[in-house]
Amino acid sequence: MAILETENVIKQFKQYDEVVTAVNRVSLKVEDGEFIAIIGSSGSGKSTFLSLCAGLDRPNAGAIKIRGNDITKMKSDELSRFRGNFTGFIYQRHNLIPQFTALENILIPTIMCNKEEFSYEEHLKKLIKSLDLGNRLHHLPSELSGGQQQRVAIARAMINRPQVLFADEPTGNLDRENADEVLALLLATKEQMGQTLVMVTHDLTIADHADKIYKMDNGKLTLFKDKRGYKRVSYEEEMQEAKADFSAE
Ligand SMILES: Nc1ncnc2c1ncn2[C@@H]1O[C@H](COP(=O)(O)OP(=O)(O)OP(=O)(O)O)[C@@H](O)[C@H]1O
Ligand SMILES: [Mg+2]
Repeated sequence: MAILETENVIKQFKQYDEVVTAVNRVSLKVEDGEFIAIIGSSGSGKSTFLSLCAGLDRPNAGAIKIRGNDITKMKSDELSRFRGNFTGFIYQRHNLIPQFTALENILIPTIMCNKEEFSYEEHLKKLIKSLDLGNRLHHLPSELSGGQQQRVAIARAMINRPQVLFADEPTGNLDRENADEVLALLLATKEQMGQTLVMVTHDLTIADHADKIYKMDNGKLTLFKDKRGYKRVSYEEEMQEAKADFSAE
């Protein structure tokens, strides 16, 4: 079953008297448990599309379904509860609340979470250990390094054990070693919990671990590579290949 499905999603921004189409009729299906990576140049619409998928922003047109529920039709309080229960989001800029300590930041999503059977304490301990945050928990974000801030943001996104985790450049501020560790943690939790992972990244070493890589180009999303290694660089190339196959038959 597709856990996330978008149909002809459009998002436009008005800048002065110009209209920017940041996301242009994007349709995407992500299966339960899949890891998909989205690459593309700066300004191509990756962050905008990810926030729409996660219900952090609303599209101008199109449908966005998570577990079959169209989140574009939800009222904002219903949407916040839904997000708290089923999704996690790692922001491109970590977005920690400056007046809260690392631990308080990590626990914020548990306020919106209604999973009665779920006790987060064991999970919290594991996250703190694997993200190596033990001795920084009572510090404010301004007292942490960039990498530590990012790891706090990752713990915050994972605290509710979300079924779908959205990550916008989660390793963007980290060096190679830390980036690889964070990826290993994301992949391990994904395995344990059957989590679905939708990640924007510039890092091709990381994207290569994904089941599928999509490319965003000027608001359009195309499949770039899937795990069988099949590459589709553009729609035009795809059509060329299809024609070649056709004439070979
Ligand atoms: N709130 C906004 N108001 C106006 N324009 C916006 C807004 N957010 C994004 N845009 C525009 O939409 C386009 C896509 O931006 P977006 O942030 O999605 O790109 P991106 O692919 O994530 O880039 P980067 O790799 O630099 O993070 C850009 O032209 C940007 O200027
Ligand atoms: Mg971005």
